[in-house]
Amino acid sequence: MKFKSIKGTRDILPADVHRWQYVEQHIRTRMQLFNYQEIRTPVFEETALFARSIGELTDIVSKEMYTFTDRSDVSLTLKPEMTAAVVRAYIQHNLADLQPLTKVYYISPMFRQERPQAGRLRQFHQFGAEAIGGSAAAIDADVIVLAMEVYRSIGVRNTSLNINSVGCQRCRPAYKQQLQDFLRKSLHRLSEDSQRRLDQNPLRVLDSKDENDRKITADAPLMIDHLCPECSAHFKELQASLSRAGVAYRVDGRIVRGLDYYTKTAFEITCTDLGSQDALTGGGRYDLLAEQLGGKPTPAVGFAAGIERLLMVLEEQKVALPEPVRPFLFIACADEEGKAWASAAVAELRRAGIAADTDHLARSLKAQMREADRQEARYSLVIGANEIHTNGCQVKNMSTGELISVPLTSLADEVKKLQSRNGR
Ligand code: HAM
Repeated sequence: MKFKSIKGTRDILPADVHRWQYVEQHIRTRMQLFNYQEIRTPVFEETALFARSIGELTDIVSKEMYTFTDRSDVSLTLKPEMTAAVVRAYIQHNLADLQPLTKVYYISPMFRQERPQAGRLRQFHQFGAEAIGGSAAAIDADVIVLAMEVYRSIGVRNTSLNINSVGCQRCRPAYKQQLQDFLRKSLHRLSEDSQRRLDQNPLRVLDSKDENDRKITADAPLMIDHLCPECSAHFKELQASLSRAGVAYRVDGRIVRGLDYYTKTAFEITCTDLGSQDALTGGGRYDLLAEQLGGKPTPAVGFAAGIERLLMVLEEQKVALPEPVRPFLFIACADEEGKAWASAAVAELRRAGIAADTDHLARSLKAQMREADRQEARYSLVIGANEIHTNGCQVKNMSTGELISVPLTSLADEVKKLQSRNGR
């Protein structure tokens, strides 16, 4: 029987993994610059945690979660997103006691049973940040600037930041009513999905992808025109903070987001080079979530971003990433004596911090040199009885062909000198 990876999941193979490692390291550095500390939570949680926070009627909860019952009859779910898990951990471990504004980040796989297509997977990876414990719009801006900074500093172009306010408990109910009244006038012309959403979650009708829905909602009332004074002031302050930080943005009153926990700020970062799944990042404020999950009322804001989508854009825009680390020295063996010497030599070189390798497949000298070439080793040398007895070998620069005579007894020192000359 032949096994294959599950539809919508991907292997990250050795030839590609350095791109992931580079991007992850880049993200970690930005997170540290903005003073966020890493948090890691389990891959699965109680199903109710996600159902309650993301919302029973959302696509994620109603049709995309990987939910299963374990042997103790407990319903568990592979995390479809991190915010709920982070807030759960924040409450459980009283993180507020340690730091009044808890700033955490994550890099983690997520699971959603969506229809796979370019940029949409069933196991995908997100990086994200959450700032829990503060209500100032300056924190929303901090989080947004952080996300934008990850893209800017890695070299991504053509991103746009779109922001909106989805209001709060005070102003949203009256607006919701107004939107429902507007939509009911065209009820029978709306798509099935939108008809279903009209009663429970009419705001989602605004971000329907259906062409006809979009025409119908072109003149729909928008939340940003119906904000209460507090939400309105918050939204204005957010815009002022973004301007002060020198980050360009566009106000888009139709951003609703596919998760129910948002209050006030909602935002997306898109990229024109991504195709139909153009969202790089989504985020916003979720001031009611901690209380909903059994904690004290705690304002919070955050974002999450797809790593596969970031890698797609980097590839599409041909952004050069550093090359993977290659062996610095490949030792080819001419005979049995050389082989024994080489095993000891690579051990010593590696102890000295030099990436070195040799042949273990008993290949011909020619095949070993081809291997050194294939591995893109910087230098190679051939070792056999002759070199051992004369205590001398020739280290070859693989790109220029230059030969350097080196006494075997001081090989590690000589290679170290070459390494510092090469800057690695
Ligand atoms: P989200 O919009 O569901 O938000 O996901 C954020 C990002 O994850 C998307 O913009 C996209 O780049 C990536 N993503 C989502 N689904 C997939 C998929 N099936 N395949 C590949 N990439 C995907 C959240 O998850 C919220 N937790 C964001 C947040 C954090 N809000 C506040 N804090």
